[in-house]
Amino acid sequence: MRPSELAAQLRCPHDQDGHEVGERMNEHNAPVIEAAYQALRCRAGDRVLEIGPGSAGHLDHLFGLQPDLDYTGLDCSSLMVRQAQRAHRDIPPPGRARFVVGDVMSAPLAEGALERIVAVNVVYFWSPLDAALNRLLALLAPGGRCCLALRSRRCMTLPVFEHGFALFDGPDLAVDMRRAGFCDVTVESRRESSVNVLGENMEKEMLLVCGERPASSMTDTRHTP
Ligand SMILES: C[S@@+](CC[C@H](N)C(=O)[O-])C[C@H]1O[C@@H](n2cnc3c(N)ncnc32)[C@H](O)[C@@H]1O
Repeated sequence: MRPSELAAQLRCPHDQDGHEVGERMNEHNAPVIEAAYQALRCRAGDRVLEIGPGSAGHLDHLFGLQPDLDYTGLDCSSLMVRQAQRAHRDIPPPGRARFVVGDVMSAPLAEGALERIVAVNVVYFWSPLDAALNRLLALLAPGGRCCLALRSRRCMTLPVFEHGFALFDGPDLAVDMRRAGFCDVTVESRRESSVNVLGENMEKEMLLVCGERPASSMTDTRHTP
């Protein structure tokens, strides 16, 4: 696959190649997905939205740890949603997880109704970023928590990432989150040795950028410098 074609598949897996790309993402991204959920600090009964879960190969593990979550996986790839639905037909308990096709910017989701939002390796594609962050903040319940997990700019050096990926160092994304109105924004960086999109082993740096919706309007810092 040419770099531009692989980039298009990572942005929205489709057609025959999309099957394989989806499977590989599950395999290569398991460490960063697990770290993102640790940073998300889910509690019993939380309503969790995952944006861009792909085929959600991590779902069984997640429900093994926390069986009482209310999980929605929203992905703009109908192929990924079909794969996720097929793979998780019997688990978790009925009614506790659903997969929906849609773009986070336009999906008909109720505002203020989610305790947790997580997106792993998706923020690269959000343009304009500020509109997407505003949307995440609006979807969260007051006091709700969001984790954006990604690889840092310094390890995204392959030609594929020159095709429509916005890259981040970590602190820059934290500034954008604060500007959107998130509070208690933190950036954690972890070293990781895993397989890249070309199937080669490499050292990577994962970033976990987390923030919360202020618990009340008194603490809403939106649009302050
Ligand atoms: C690079 S893949 C990452 C998949 C998985 N989170 C992982 O890390 O292995 C990006 C996924 O996000 C989805 N996606 C991209 N932009 C999206 C958007 N605006 N709304 C919903 N899903 C989106 C894509 O269809 C794709 O499945």
